[in-house]
Amino acid sequence: MTDMLTPVLSADWGTDRAWTLEAYKNAGGYGALETALKMAPDDVIAMVKESGLRGRGGAGFPTGMKWSFIPQAPETVAGKKPKYLVVNADESEPGTCKDIPLMMATPHTLIEGVIIAAHAIRAKTAFIYVRGEVLHVVRRLRAAAREAAEAGYLGTDILGSGIDVELIIHAGAGAYICGEETALLDSLEGRRGQPRLRPPFPAVEGLYASPTVVNNVESIASVPAIIRNGIDWFGSMGTEKSKGFTLYSLSGHVNRPGQYEAPLGITLRQLLDLGGGLRPGAELKFWTPGGSSTPILTAEHLDVPLDYEAVGAAGSMLGTKALQIFDQSTSVVRCVLRWTEFYKHESCGKCTPCREGTFWLVQVLERLDRGQGREGDIELLIDLCENILGRAFCALGDGATSPITSAIQHFREEFEAGMHTPSSELFPPAASTLFPQEVSV
Ligand SMILES: Cc1cc2nc3c(=O)[nH]c(=O)nc-3n(C[C@H](O)[C@H](O)[C@H](O)COP(=O)(O)O)c2cc1C
Ligand code: SF4
Repeated sequence: MTDMLTPVLSADWGTDRAWTLEAYKNAGGYGALETALKMAPDDVIAMVKESGLRGRGGAGFPTGMKWSFIPQAPETVAGKKPKYLVVNADESEPGTCKDIPLMMATPHTLIEGVIIAAHAIRAKTAFIYVRGEVLHVVRRLRAAAREAAEAGYLGTDILGSGIDVELIIHAGAGAYICGEETALLDSLEGRRGQPRLRPPFPAVEGLYASPTVVNNVESIASVPAIIRNGIDWFGSMGTEKSKGFTLYSLSGHVNRPGQYEAPLGITLRQLLDLGGGLRPGAELKFWTPGGSSTPILTAEHLDVPLDYEAVGAAGSMLGTKALQIFDQSTSVVRCVLRWTEFYKHESCGKCTPCREGTFWLVQVLERLDRGQGREGDIELLIDLCENILGRAFCALGDGATSPITSAIQHFREEFEAGMHTPSSELFPPAASTLFPQEVSV
């Protein structure tokens, strides 16, 4: 069974002091950088493009193609501006928990990827924007960047190549919206983090109105392995349009939660087998394929290949591959309420459909949770969602509707029950907790 795993990014997570430069170099680290520095920037872009690597931050946009959008011609106005690489390490989506362990365990994988990517897009300055709450990750990255600079991998004239890259590790202040790439750029500039109108896209006018590539941690950290092992090796894993390996984060009612690195296209059934299955006597009720903003799926979808195309065809999205598992003890209404409270709290307030809509969604879900729902509340929820979906300024609003509409589609009877019975009676919370609760008397 474990032969289904393809540890690449996570291969050395168990090594003694894996986060140090010494351990990383012992495992062949920074070898890919030496290769990439001898390549022309356009050749690095072409290689990443041909590999089929797609962004691991949620949308699955081809990474090499994104890099190729950066204007390079020196005679153009845009070409005269500096170019920036920004790594999105804001990781705040409920259920998503892959980038933080990666940065803690082997920060040099990310730093090596940053230097290669900066070389490819001809950026002299790169940023890693880290979620504010994870100060331990900020410290670890800064220590690793210091080590890398002392060894000549960062700074001026890297390894005698004539290439300069300065890396700045920036701590955010802990806002989910700052993971949205344009809000992130505003935040990095010192403004309140709110999404920008597009176009112009960041590749044309990003950080300080200069051409900018924004990529997820896992996307950038995957690049050194591609340079080291080649595109055929990368393409030998995954499916036709979703190539390579990736980190699946298994959480919730599963015996061995954690990060499972496997080829794209593995199924949840296979991952659950690797994770020791559900608790004894438990049955799978619903799950998210890619965090709380991707429509929920059910036991019917256990054999859907977890790649961008197949999950899309099943009515959801692969998103961040954050597989949250819920067994039959979970109240769908309560779970959806918790997620919606999160979206209401994290809404940046810039646009009315999301700011007002998430507030009203919580009001309706709260009364259904209490068993005090009113006739027509399900239609009201659907109507509110329709007024957010496609009308909100950024994808946070759309994402907030996904758990609600998909939960009504699969479990409408539970919302109907919310008109007379509290969810705590139908599904006592103690039965679905992961750890035994202290009972206070
Ligand atoms: C509300 C919201 C939060 C997001 N949070 C993150 C995040 O924490 N990390 C991330 O990489 N992408 C996040 N994204 C997606 C980014 O906007 C962007 O698509 C991504 O960083 C691009 O990187 P990739 O092409 O490597 O996937 C978020 C999007 C939205 C709408
Ligand atoms: S959809 Fe929500 S988070 Fe996005 S801009 Fe509008 S209010 Fe802000």
